[in-house]
Parts: sequence; C-alpha cells; structure tokens
Amino acid sequence: MFSDLTDQLDALGARLREALASAGDHAALEGVRVRFLGRSGEITQVRRAIGTLSPAERPAAGKAINDAVAQFEAELESRSHELDARALEGELALAIDVTFPGIAPATGSLHPIRRAMEDACRYFERHGFAVVLGPEIETEYYNFDALNIPPDHPAREGLDSFYLRPGLLLRTHTSPMQVRTMQAHPPPIAIVVPGKCYRRDAIDARHSPMFHQIEGLLVAPGIHLGHLKGVLEGLFREVFGPKQAVRFRPSFFPFVEPGAEVDTTCPGCGGEGCKTCGGSGWIEIGGSGMVHPDVLRESGYDPAGVTGWAFGVGIERIAMVRQDIDDIRVLFENDPRVLEQLA
Ligand code: PHE
Repeated sequence: MFSDLTDQLDALGARLREALASAGDHAALEGVRVRFLGRSGEITQVRRAIGTLSPAERPAAGKAINDAVAQFEAELESRSHELDARALEGELALAIDVTFPGIAPATGSLHPIRRAMEDACRYFERHGFAVVLGPEIETEYYNFDALNIPPDHPAREGLDSFYLRPGLLLRTHTSPMQVRTMQAHPPPIAIVVPGKCYRRDAIDARHSPMFHQIEGLLVAPGIHLGHLKGVLEGLFREVFGPKQAVRFRPSFFPFVEPGAEVDTTCPGCGGEGCKTCGGSGWIEIGGSGMVHPDVLRESGYDPAGVTGWAFGVGIERIAMVRQDIDDIRVLFENDPRVLEQLA
C-alpha cells in the first residue's frame, strides 16, 4: 500500500539524519551515502517494494521515492559543507601566528582642496606671511563698500550673492579680509586668507555655489608689482612644480589699480598647449593688482606712505589641475572611492 511506502521513506529519512549527525569526516559520510543511497543500499529495498503496488499506484510511488532521494542527497551535501567549514576552522585555530601582520585599518587622507590650501599656506608662512581667517557671513560694507565696489555694481545684486538679510551676505570673495586686517593693524601687513566663498552660480562642471580662495595682501612702503609676480611664481612652483611662470593680463577689479588676471604655465603640458589649457599653454588662476588708494584710505592707511598688492587665487582650480579633474563636482560629491584614488 502507498501509505506503507511513505512511512518507510520517513523512517529511512530519520535514520539517515541520525547517521549524518554522527558522521565526523568525509569517509564516514561516504559510508552513510553507500548505506542509504548506494546500489544495494536501503533505498533500493524501498524501490523494490514498488513491485507490490497496484499499477495505478506506481507512478506516484516512483515520484515519492525520487523526491525523497533528492532530499536525502541535499542533506548529504549540506553535511559535507558543514564538515569542510569545521575542518577549516580547526586548521585556522591551529594556525594562529601572533607574528602575522594584522589587518591594516583603512586610513583616511586629506581632501584635494585641503591639500592645495595647506600647500599654499605653507609656502606663504615660510615667506613670513600670517595665515588669518575671516567670517564667511560678511557685511555688505566689508564685502563691497570698503572695497570700492559701488552700490550700483552688478555683483551686489542678489542675483550674484547670497543675502541673509539686507546688509548681510555670504562673502563672495576673501577680499573683505583686506580691509578688516588693515583696520585692525598698522602697516606693514603680510597676510594670506584661505577660505570658503559663495556665489549664486548654477552648478556645472566649472561652477559651484561654494568654492575656496586664498587671498594675499602685502602692504608696506615701496611694495610694487614685481614683488607680486615673484611671490606668485613661488606659489605656483610650490603647488605645481619648478617650471611654472606667471603671466599678468590687464583686468579690472574696483579695489585694485592697476588690476590683472593671473595666469600660470599649464602644468598639464608645460606650456605646449593641451586640453586642460585649451591649447593656450596658460591657465587662469586668479585676480590681482595694486591695492587701490581708496581702499588704503578706507583702511586708515596713507597711500602716500605705503603701497601694497593683493591677489585672490582659486583653490579648486589648483586642486583640479593637479589631480587632472575636469569636473568640479567630483570635489564636492565626496564619493569615498574617488577620494581614495585622489589620495
Ligand atoms: N576678489 C577677486 C575675485 O574674487 C580676486 C582679486 C583679489 C582681485 C585681490 C584682485 C585683488 O574675483
């Protein structure tokens, strides 16, 4: 009868499980397999019993047996894996070698922006400049008025700047620290100001509403543009390499006179012309000029007694050129996999 068969298979399964549990190695396991599933094993006896069933019952009986065999084989297999895992554990337990190096913890690294900023600051500190920080929330007075930027200047519109309330905004450049420093200290002044700046630019490959600058200011009797060129050349040699040159292009900023855009030799091609510099051999990296007499006066200095220069250089620009990154967003998305590569 069919129910007898089911009982037999259940009983067989129970015995098989017992045998599996006490099989301690692969040889014992093979013994179990032969005993239960081998050609003259117990399952064969059960199969023979099919002959005693009515023809109508046979197909179902055959299927029940095959299903049971598949199940038994799976159990043998999983016991075999269990034995492997246990053997491995045993070996490892014996193999503890206290002189083995440990698993090294993942180490972090400085962000490329931080690195560019620190390299620049190190250069200026070595040359006697003080590194000072200014507020990121600025008054309209320091961000614009004191820098000779008139009230009707387009840069003052909310379109370009983040205003917190009338008269108060996120600084659009690091230049406000020029007047803040000069008002607080008599000449001579030699400072750099690294830090974040904010402009209402749409985000794209070259623009981010938050970016970093390093401002420089040197004011003393007899300071001229030649000093600026020498200092900037030294800076670019520090951050890019020993062959950098500096090129000034006349430009206008209300707080300097004369004013110049600052270019340096494209580090990507050494000046030959490549994709990074658009074939020109130069990359634009900041603005500069001689501090405007109005700015000196606003700071309480006498333009007849002292002169000075100032510059503002883009930190992202340095980091991107150094790391050969062509999309500024890479610097701010902070994907750890990318940062690891840039380390
Ligand atoms: N503040 C200017 C800017 O952000 C750069 C600059 C700094 C120009 C100092 C001249 C002198 O564009």
